[in-house]
Amino acid sequence: MKSSIMQGARIISIGSAVPDLCINNTEISQIVETSDEWIVNRTGIKERRILNGINQSVVDLAYSASMEALNKAKMHPLEIDLIILATSSPNDLFGSASQIQAKIGAYKAVAFDITAACSGFVLAIVTASQFIQNGSYKNILIIGADVLSKWIDWSDRKTCILFGDGAGAAIMQACHKKDNAILGFQLNTDGTKSNQLSITYKENTDSHNTLKLFQGKFQYLSMNGQEVYKFAVSKVPASIKKCLNAIQLSAKDVNWLLLHQANQRILNAVAQRLSIDNCKIISNLSKYGNTSAASIPLALDEALKSNKIIKEDIIVISGFGAGLTWGTVVIKWKC
Ligand code: COA
Repeated sequence: MKSSIMQGARIISIGSAVPDLCINNTEISQIVETSDEWIVNRTGIKERRILNGINQSVVDLAYSASMEALNKAKMHPLEIDLIILATSSPNDLFGSASQIQAKIGAYKAVAFDITAACSGFVLAIVTASQFIQNGSYKNILIIGADVLSKWIDWSDRKTCILFGDGAGAAIMQACHKKDNAILGFQLNTDGTKSNQLSITYKENTDSHNTLKLFQGKFQYLSMNGQEVYKFAVSKVPASIKKCLNAIQLSAKDVNWLLLHQANQRILNAVAQRLSIDNCKIISNLSKYGNTSAASIPLALDEALKSNKIIKEDIIVISGFGAGLTWGTVVIKWKC
């Protein structure tokens, strides 16, 4: 990291939340033509959690994850300076971070959303670290939360098998420069391929008013699975290599590879291209599917709860997905 930073940044606590309703592959095969065997072989996913119940939203999951992170850090919500919510499934297009601010009582915090799909949590870590390292803020709550079950066509077997709902939150805090834990990052966007994975707004073709004003609706999630797969296994290793090179580290220095939890085959292929042993891959997608912006903090929280990660471990975190967006942040675990 450049020596121009005013103060270091580190993650001091993590929390996560998933809905109670668990739907396994056999249950999905009751609504679309598929099987547990096909889904497990092609993706590694066995079950996923789905939000159900009227009036439940992404904000409820984000709230639970945030409160867990705050409690673990023994921090009062009024100590939070900034809240960044990474989500692509808000319950208000104007942003949902402000609802979380009110719900947790973090009335002194500025709050805004980041929309960067499955790369959202990586973008949130990097954005928060900039605000901390340049001396603007001390305590930042970052959240990755998505409920893509609301945006999926449950009759499309190519997509409905993949996704689940969840939320993860982290408290990032300023520290002495020498304890800085956000070692480096590398971010990318390729908007020319945005149509490979999207939830698009479509206008109605007819207008019934004299001013000829058109209105429309958002469509279901659509995805070119093969293209997204190829994109992930080629671009993500390149991003990781660039990021490690820039901070004079190599794949050998990596203790944990924490990728967006999209598909076990993608996780294995990326590790293989980097010559990183499979035992260093953090994976929990068999239980949750692809939870978009939530997947990285959810997996990080589980890895910490099971005491996998220890102090001074180097963790390579990469997100990738719609946009297309992809990127890497390398952290040294300090807690
Ligand atoms: N159950 C059974 N058969 C299925 C199926 C399902 N759920 N979904 C697709 N199929 C069928 C297809 O219809 C096709 O049949 P055909 O050969 O008779 O036409 C066959 O399986 C192969 O389909 P294909 O789309 O080529 O499968 P795939 O090996 O590429 O696997 C994905 C599909 C979606 C699992 C895979 O492309 C993938 O994981 N892509 C990345 C997606 C991703 O991670 N997106 C999120 C990124 S953030």
